[in-house]
Order: sequence, then C-alpha cells, then structure tokens
Amino acid sequence: MAKILVTGAGGFVAGYLRRVLIRDGFKVASVSRSSIRPIDGERVLTVSGYDDPAIPDVARGCSAAIHLVGGGQQTIHHQYHDTNHFPAAAVAEACRAADVPRMIYLSGLGVSPDATSGYFISKYLAERAVAGSVPEPVIFRPSYIIGPNDHLTSNLRRQAQTCAITIPGSGRYMMQPISVHDAVRVLAMAATGGAFAGRTLDMVGPQTTTFAEYVRAFAGPKTRIIHADMEEIYRDAVLGRDPAYELDDLGIMVGGYVGDHGTLRRITGMQFRTIPQMLQSGGPA
Ligand SMILES: NC(=O)c1ccc[n+]([C@@H]2O[C@H](COP(=O)([O-])OP(=O)(O)OC[C@H]3O[C@@H](n4cnc5c(N)ncnc54)[C@H](OP(=O)(O)O)[C@@H]3O)[C@@H](O)[C@H]2O)c1
Repeated sequence: MAKILVTGAGGFVAGYLRRVLIRDGFKVASVSRSSIRPIDGERVLTVSGYDDPAIPDVARGCSAAIHLVGGGQQTIHHQYHDTNHFPAAAVAEACRAADVPRMIYLSGLGVSPDATSGYFISKYLAERAVAGSVPEPVIFRPSYIIGPNDHLTSNLRRQAQTCAITIPGSGRYMMQPISVHDAVRVLAMAATGGAFAGRTLDMVGPQTTTFAEYVRAFAGPKTRIIHADMEEIYRDAVLGRDPAYELDDLGIMVGGYVGDHGTLRRITGMQFRTIPQMLQSGGPA
C-alpha cells in the first residue's frame, strides 16, 4: 500500500486525516512540532521546524505528502511567512530531494495572484512554492472546514457559552463550509487519484449560506444573537480588545468567498454533507 507523508500532523484536519489514512490501509509517516501519539503502525517524527533535515529521510518512499501546516492569525512571534509560506516551501524542497512525486497543499478559498491581505499573499506564495517543486502538485482552496473543534465552531461555541453570539454587521456575506469528514476523504483520494495531479480545486461543500443564516442554524432557539456594528467589531479587532473575531477572520468572513463544488463532486464522485448535517456534530448545546 502507498506510503503518505503528513506534515502539520498535530492540527485539527490532520487528527481526522491520519485516522482515515490508517483505516484505509495506507502507511503513514507524520511530522509535527508537537509530540503526538502514533496511531497503529504510524511513524511519527517530532521536529523543531519544517526545515528539519530529517524530513527528506522520512519522506523517501512516499508517493504523496499532504501538507497541513498553516494558520490564519499572525503575532509578533509567528508571522504569516513563518506559518504558511516558509513551511510549505521547506516541505516542498524536502519532497523534491526525496523524489516524492505528489504534494497536496491546503491553501485557502479566495487566494489568488491579486491577493492584497498578508494571509492570502502567504498562502499564494506557498501554492507557488509547492507547484514549482514537485511534478504532481495538488492545491486545495478550502472554505471553512467544519467539525466539532474547528476554529469557527470553537469561537461560536465559546461565544454561546458566555452570553450571546455576535454577528458583525448584517451578516449577509456568503460562505460555503465543508465537513471535515468530507475534506479528509477528498485528501485521502487525492493522495493516489490520477484525476487530481496538477489541479487547483476549491474545497467547498454543496451549499452556500450567509454568515447570519449559518449562525442562526448553529445557535438554535435558545442562544441570543446580536448584530454588532461592523466598525466597532473591526476596531476591537484592530486594537486587540478581546475581539469576538480576529482581524483576518473578519476579512475572510466579509469577503464572502464561495467556490466551485461541482468539479470537486465530479472528480471524487462523493456525496457531501449538507450544512444541517455538519452542524449536528458542532452545535452549542
Ligand atoms: N480549518 C479550516 O477551516 C481551514 C480553512 C481554510 C484553510 N485551512 C488550511 O488548512 C490547513 C489545515 O488546517 P487546520 O485547521 O488543521 O490547521 P491548524 O490545526 O490550525 O494548524 C495546523 C498545523 O499548522 C502547524 N503550525 C501552526 N502554526 C505554525 C507555525 N507558526 N510554524 C510552523 N507550523 C505551524 C501546526 O503543526 P504542528 O503543531 O503539527 O507542527 C498545526 O498543528 C492549514 O494550512 C489551514 O490554513 C483550514
């Protein structure tokens, strides 16, 4: 069975993906900066950074690498280059050195050469680094990946537990979430499927919705919802005053990004979970 390298193995998506790959019979070699517990037969390499010279050795013999390192917030200690562009370029170089033909990268929905935000720029540069290093790059641009403990669900649940959920402004900006269970099925298929090689694909679910509708469905009848003034929400985020949403989260939300689900469905032949099905596992109560 094929051997797959998973980088960023300590993260949210990786936790689901590693279990699915092992269950499907793949040999899995996982790399993380945190000490993660191996799942049945999995090889784990703990590194201090993604330019660790041991990574090409672990990658050798893999038919694909699935790179899940990334983040949507920056601090003085970890800027977007450190979280998105640099690790992707370093792992792409490790794949090239180890003759790993395919590298699968999770970018972000809305990423394009016209990007102006630091987050999107770092993701775009990471895409280019991957595309320029391996013969079979596969780039996915995901919308919100929804599971019991994703970033958005954790935020909404935390707000619901305090007093109310805040919707910035009208909430009439669009989104097209995908279930983490579907996202990892797609990634497992992309590790070996011929139809994926060289493609850039939106990783979006079958339904679009507005953020306000999504929050209402998430909250249920008992949780209060507040529409807050957009200017105030942005000011809290800019000034770091315990904001309900971080600055770049707001940019992505208000950007209202939706994508092409049809191509993903055609290539995978999968039936994807609807928004109500995604919410069943992630609601507040
Ligand atoms: N979840 C979503 O809704 C969503 C939406 C769009 C795009 N994406 C992208 O999909 C990928 C996986 O998402 P996820 O939700 O699983 O991400 P995550 O759990 O937030 O983070 C994934 C991993 O990135 C690594 N990482 C974070 N900050 C780092 C830094 N400063 N330097 C080096 N490594 C760092 C960590 O790997 P280790 O601790 O294992 O080293 C972490 O476990 C990411 O690239 C993300 O940007 C996710």
